[in-house]
Amino acid sequence: MRILITGGAGYIGSHTLVEVLKAGHAAHVVDNLDNASPVALARVKQLANRDFGFTRADIRDAGAMAALVAETRPEAVIHFAGLKAVGESVADPLGYFDNNVGGSLALLRALRAADCRRFVFSSSATVYGDPDYLPIDESHPRRTTNPYGRSKLQIEGILEDLAASDPSWSIALLRYFNPVGAHASGRIGEDPTGVPNNLMPFIAQVAVGRRPALNVFGTDYPTPDGTGVRDYIHVSDLARAHLAAVDWTAGRAGEGETGVGETGVGETGRGCAAFNLGTGQGTSVLEMARAFGAASGREIAVNLAPRRPGDVAACYADAGRAAVELGWRAELGLAEMCASTWHWQSQNPGGYPDEGAEGAA
Ligand code: NAD
Ligand code: UD1
Repeated sequence: MRILITGGAGYIGSHTLVEVLKAGHAAHVVDNLDNASPVALARVKQLANRDFGFTRADIRDAGAMAALVAETRPEAVIHFAGLKAVGESVADPLGYFDNNVGGSLALLRALRAADCRRFVFSSSATVYGDPDYLPIDESHPRRTTNPYGRSKLQIEGILEDLAASDPSWSIALLRYFNPVGAHASGRIGEDPTGVPNNLMPFIAQVAVGRRPALNVFGTDYPTPDGTGVRDYIHVSDLARAHLAAVDWTAGRAGEGETGVGETGVGETGRGCAAFNLGTGQGTSVLEMARAFGAASGREIAVNLAPRRPGDVAACYADAGRAAVELGWRAELGLAEMCASTWHWQSQNPGGYPDEGAEGAA
């Protein structure tokens, strides 16, 4: 299948690109490289030992999207491109809505004009807000607390309305829980700019000596050890889920019937359906620090700190629908998540090198 991957140079996009190429699909990446390195694309090419197309463009550029879609004639699209930092979205809501919602609209218009109606969207567990119950299933009420989350919720709504307006669309909303880890080779991984906001990259930088200690945000949550609990999922498992979702949009995945989602219309691979992507296992901050210490052989120093505003106590998935409908389930555990992150971080302590040092795609 010809698959267009927006944001394919980023963290999750690059890992998915490897799997897409390994599965034999023809891939084309569009990315403005605002939050990614061309070195990631060069390394994917080496890892998959296959070539793919790349266009450096902004998905908000309607003319560029129309030309790209006309030229590459995708049969399906995996849409990762977006901004994802919660704090930044609070400081610059217009920038976030413009990029995430505006970019998605420009892309969707180009796809509709070219009759490409199979679409896989990177959504987030952030659309569930502070959960009413655990584990969270897909019919849990949706609400968010920040502009980033609202941009995801708005795009989900747009996609649901689009599918309701025209049954030839086939749209999977993939709600990721907490993606972590790196490709087993250690050649690609998460490379945040500045101080990492997320737990796993912060711990990895403590282990490699870039930061003195992990601040544990909150020790008085109603959880077994008082620290926040999340559903961490290995990025390579997540990458495989995208292949399963592409198959689902083509009416080929899983065993069950879909359409039980908000606007699904009752036939596998038709309409719009949401899928939680997680392991279903909750892990606390302190458990993660210990697991990373064991995987890396480095002590992870911790400072017990106050709660981070906006955080929830615990969040983990009921990923049963993805198992039944997509035929996918997570296979890799905490030990693999930590070991692969350490492999990537210790081989690339400063993240990706400059393009000149290694060559680009
Ligand atoms: P990332 O920043 O590494 O990747 C996003 C990519 O999109 C980057 O390469 C960036 O350069 C590109 N991009 C951004 N805006 C663009 C635009 N207007 N035009 C073209 N390219 C653009 O992030 P990621 O962690 O790989 O996340 C991918 C997607 O998954 C995002 O939509 C994110 O919101 C979503 N998501 C991520 C997480 C997570 O924890 N990483 C969790 C839930 C959902
Ligand atoms: C964060 C985002 C969420 C996004 C998700 C993607 C916020 C408020 N939420 O969620 O929108 O979808 O990332 O993965 O930013 N922690 C520490 N010390 C740190 C960093 C984190 O103790 O230095 C704790 C947090 O308090 C939390 C857990 O680790 O309990 C996980 O944090 P993080 O990786 O930031 O993910 P989320 O909070 O789930």
